Amino acid sequence: MSNNAPLGIFDSGLGGLTVARQIAEALPDESFIYVGDTTRCPYGPQDLADIQQYVREICTFLQQRGVKLIVIACNTATAAAIELAQKEFDIPIIGVIEPGARAAVRATRNRKVGVIGTVGTIESGVYAHAVSALDAGCEIHSIATPEFVDMVEDGLAFDEHSQDRFSGLSVPPQFREIASTYLDQLRDDEVDCVVLGCTHYPLLHDPIAAIMGEEVVLVSSAEETAHDVLSTLERRGHLASVGNVATYEFFTTGDKDRFKALGSKVFGRTLEPLELLDIDYLESLVEAYY
Ligand code: DGL
Repeated sequence: MSNNAPLGIFDSGLGGLTVARQIAEALPDESFIYVGDTTRCPYGPQDLADIQQYVREICTFLQQRGVKLIVIACNTATAAAIELAQKEFDIPIIGVIEPGARAAVRATRNRKVGVIGTVGTIESGVYAHAVSALDAGCEIHSIATPEFVDMVEDGLAFDEHSQDRFSGLSVPPQFREIASTYLDQLRDDEVDCVVLGCTHYPLLHDPIAAIMGEEVVLVSSAEETAHDVLSTLERRGHLASVGNVATYEFFTTGDKDRFKALGSKVFGRTLEPLELLDIDYLESLVEAYY
């Protein structure tokens, strides 16, 4: 495999583009192929076995495209299937939970860490486990915030009243009320750091920060994940050559026009080239393999 082979990055939809963007900034010589499984988004409330199957399918697709490493840029999919993927595929697979936990342990001063994520991620307990593995004295307060993913996917479609500097996301008026029902609990718990434990949530950074207050640090896993990609490639001697002209390719299992319009806001550049990835085709790849 050539060192200039692309990375594979995927998510249930647009959220993983927050990670892809960070990787593009931190590792400018690296090419990547991004898959957003928008037709089957959100993953958060779905059965573990279904999510595991989606991960198998997408990893198989990416491996067939010749990627040298895969980033599961989705907390829910990482929680459900990183171990399975690492066992079943022979290329390095990196998730976003360990990096997020590391960022939290570094950020907290009072060792009270809040975590918000999808139902799948929070119920799996993986963040609590990952944070404890780094600092068993940290208190973890985890809350599932299921509506946030739809708010991001829908909110990106309206930009007349943009409120988020990073994403151009328009936050619906009911956000504060809904978000407060979750976040007030974390404020009562006196956390000084909240992990945005879903790759969609950095797009809600500003409105969440407005509720949590200045003294609470919001951490996401994107930066640490990019760092893990770098160190894994370095360790294996697989870094792209310096000055390599990186190329990006995007696939969505859903509506291409919508994905391009909304995803370009998240990625900060036009998603091009972008192709439709047919679900039947994805399913057939795994049937052929297993
Ligand atoms: N962006 C995904 C995550 O990090 C999940 C969103 C979803 O599909 O529920 O968990």
